[in-house]
Amino acid sequence: MEEETLPDKLVTAHLGNQVQTEWWAQQIALVSMPGDILALTGPMGAGKTVFARAFINALAEERGVNKFLVTSPTYNLVQIYELPEIEIYHVDLYRLEDGEDLRELGLEEAYDHGISLIEWPDRMRNFIPNGCLYVKLEQGHGSTERTVSFLGQSNWLDRLQSIKHGN
Ligand SMILES: Nc1ncnc2c1ncn2[C@@H]1O[C@H](COP(=O)(O)OP(=O)(O)OP(=O)(O)O)[C@@H](O)[C@H]1O
Ligand SMILES: [Mg+2]
Repeated sequence: MEEETLPDKLVTAHLGNQVQTEWWAQQIALVSMPGDILALTGPMGAGKTVFARAFINALAEERGVNKFLVTSPTYNLVQIYELPEIEIYHVDLYRLEDGEDLRELGLEEAYDHGISLIEWPDRMRNFIPNGCLYVKLEQGHGSTERTVSFLGQSNWLDRLQSIKHGN
C-alpha cells in the first residue's frame, strides 16, 4: 500500500505493552457498527492478531458469550465469529495466492452485514472500500513497545475522539 494513498491520520498512541494494544482494540470494538471495516497493517509480529483477538472478545463479552480462541486464519484466509446480532469476519490475506479470486472469499457479504478485520490488506489493494479504518501498528524500541495510528475518513473521527476523551 502506498503511504500517500492512505486517508488522514486521525489519532496516534504509544503502546507500552500488549495490554495497551488490547485496550485500544476493546475500545474500538465497543464503538464499532455493522458494516465497519478495519484494515490492520504492520509487519509480522506487530500485533495485528492480538488486536483482532481483543476486538472480537470485547464484543463476545459485551454480548454475554464465551471468549473465542482467535488465531490467524491463515489456512482459510477468513474466519467468521458469530455473535448475537453480528458476525465478525477475521481475514488474513498474507497467504493469498497470486490471481486468487477475492470474490470467492465472500467479503461483499462481510462488508455489508458484518464487521471485517483484515490483516495484510495491501494484498488486495482495490478491494478495500473508502470508509475503512486503517489500524497501523509499528514496532517501537523495546520489545513490547508499539505505536498505533488510526487513519480514516471523518466518519471515524468522532468515535475515536470519544475514546480518547474517555481515557
Ligand atoms: N504492545 C504489544 N502489542 C501487541 N503485541 C505485542 C505487544 N508486545 C508484545 N507483543 C507480542 O507480539 C506478538 C504479536 O503477534 P501477532 O500474531 O499479533 O502479530 P501479527 O501482526 O498478527 O503478525 P503476522 O503478520 O505474522 O500475522 C505476540 O507474541 C504478542 O505477545
Ligand atoms: Mg496475524
